[in-house]
Amino acid sequence: MSKRFTITAALPYTNGPIHIGHLAGVYVPADIYARYLRLQGHDVAFICGSDEHGVPITIKAKKEGVTPQDIVDHFHANIKMSFEEFGISFDNYSRTSAKIHHETASEFFETLHKKGDFIEEITAQLYDAEAGQFLADRFVVGTCPKCGNEESYGDQCEACGTSHNATDLINPKSAITGATPSLKETKHWFLPLDQHEAFLKQWILEGHKADWKPNVYGQCKSWIDDGLRPRAVTRDLDWGIPVPVEGGDGKVLYVWFDAPIGYISSTKEWAQSQGKDWEPYWKDEETTLVHFIGKDNIVFHCIIFPAMLKAEGSYILPENVPANEFLNLEGQKLSTSKNWAVWLPEYLKDFPDKQDVLRYVLTATAPETKDNDFTWKDFQARNNNELVAIFGNFINRVLVLTNKYYEGSVPHPHELSAIDTETLNKLKAYPGILSKSIERYRFREASQELMNLARLGNKYLADEEPWKVVKTDPERVQTIMYVALQISAALAVVSEPFLPWSSQKLKAMLQLQPQPWAAVASGKSLLEPGHQIGKAELLFAKIEDSEIENQLEKLAQSKLANTIENAVVEPQKETISFDDFSKLDIRVGTIIAAEKMPKAKKLLVLQVDTGIDVRTIVSGIAESFTAEDVIGKRVTVLVNLAPRALRGVESQGMILMTETPDGKLVFVNPDAAHETTNGLKIS
Ligand code: 2FM
Ligand code: ZN
Repeated sequence: MSKRFTITAALPYTNGPIHIGHLAGVYVPADIYARYLRLQGHDVAFICGSDEHGVPITIKAKKEGVTPQDIVDHFHANIKMSFEEFGISFDNYSRTSAKIHHETASEFFETLHKKGDFIEEITAQLYDAEAGQFLADRFVVGTCPKCGNEESYGDQCEACGTSHNATDLINPKSAITGATPSLKETKHWFLPLDQHEAFLKQWILEGHKADWKPNVYGQCKSWIDDGLRPRAVTRDLDWGIPVPVEGGDGKVLYVWFDAPIGYISSTKEWAQSQGKDWEPYWKDEETTLVHFIGKDNIVFHCIIFPAMLKAEGSYILPENVPANEFLNLEGQKLSTSKNWAVWLPEYLKDFPDKQDVLRYVLTATAPETKDNDFTWKDFQARNNNELVAIFGNFINRVLVLTNKYYEGSVPHPHELSAIDTETLNKLKAYPGILSKSIERYRFREASQELMNLARLGNKYLADEEPWKVVKTDPERVQTIMYVALQISAALAVVSEPFLPWSSQKLKAMLQLQPQPWAAVASGKSLLEPGHQIGKAELLFAKIEDSEIENQLEKLAQSKLANTIENAVVEPQKETISFDDFSKLDIRVGTIIAAEKMPKAKKLLVLQVDTGIDVRTIVSGIAESFTAEDVIGKRVTVLVNLAPRALRGVESQGMILMTETPDGKLVFVNPDAAHETTNGLKIS
């Protein structure tokens, strides 16, 4: 039976492009789900848009000397375009600066205000007198009261995930001027979450214990168990939706109040463009509402937004909020500021026809129950060993043989053998297996089952060996190829949610008309005898080592740039005169012997041929070099440094060293530019 679904994907902030963390956490699973539901014949509104308010956008604008509107215009276009090129099948992608959103969010606020659902309170908020501004959310940094992280933001600590008020921070500092803020009184509107506690307890703790993911349920429970407190839903800022009630001058709606309403306004925009009524998608109890989000958004979608919807009174609540954990990259947390990410626009430039490869890898390694790691080696291996060697290989053999034996015409099957029947029965069961995983939001498991279907095809061909049998029993080969073609067609249909580009290409090769999901489960022939298929083309191509090395090199560059940026540069020492400098006698020498100073972690005792003499120098380099490393090394030596005893050994000079940007100790190398002779005076 066809049902109505409203599927939302977290509105991305428009202060940077989309990266693989966003894709794996939210957009790929949401897209698989939406595509799957459409194939099942359901009525689906898959909704998203840009989240264009919030402090990070204004901070970025300030830093770049442009307006917040410039920032959001740029990234809205960038994000929208890369989603399109990647094939995320939103029914509507809107933005929260759109008029329809400002109107919808304002109305929502006014309704709650009229109904008396807010508390108005004058409270002391952090104020930066130097900047002449209140410090909400990310304008303030300080120590998290829960975990002690010294770089927690005012609204949320990224280390422990706790969401708090800016005034809860210990040692708060203004992110604008660095000043310690003072407290200043200001009026705000609060959503009294404490008054919704009974409903939330019953709805989540009793109603969704069994069907929400344990990570989602667990976070909600911990919030509720900690005791819910009123949350301010307005801010003293000038970027956002103006507070639409008396006394709201100079204030805007809190970004987390307006952003989820963006799902509603985006649905309205879509409905208008389609000549549909938006209300059933948000107000009909028969509609299933599902929010796809990342784990840092759980509290907003499971507690605050539902409390707002409930308070308003006419809306449905989400049936599920399948939040994912985080994706790391090559063992490190993804970071926009450190450029430690695989950016979608760059990926699409480097791999213009490999959208499905990234979709597949991100699904097969999705951080569904715990944080997970993306590595380029794994990306290559999954492409080459699974998509190419299993899926692509099977399809290629079927198409090539059908063209070779029957000029592309699907053969008539003869009597089915036991293995044919068993294979066709297994095939029929796959849609059910996949549905079960998808409907429980286990996309990772589903992607592996999809690959198992391709494995079934490969095994069938390998066991039946049509290329051998053709010499002795051509009738049998007709049956084998008929069965193999049915598997290929089934793959074309059920791979669509996971690999939409390849599914499309495969359908074109098979000349297969769009088929619903149920067609595969029905067991009816998907490709009738006599149906003409097209030419074989490669579905997936091997990824070479050099392509992976390019990507790893990009990451190495980011790492180096970060190290340089974060390197602590010692301030310049006091100025010296030229006379002082010319007193230094610096020569080129060779280390001819070296040994570790006993019981001293850092010291090596060196014998250095300075060209003048061979002398002992004690050098503090033992943590970077062994004695064997340095014997024979040509070095730069300060020879007229006053001798000094170190652990009882007299050191008669100093070896000059320097540090690389990543903190590695290296010799000041006299041979770097040209040949030098021991004793050469450096001046
Ligand atoms: O975390 C984020 O990227 C937010 N912009 C998500 C907002 S989701 C919704 F509520 F709009
Ligand atoms: Zn914390």
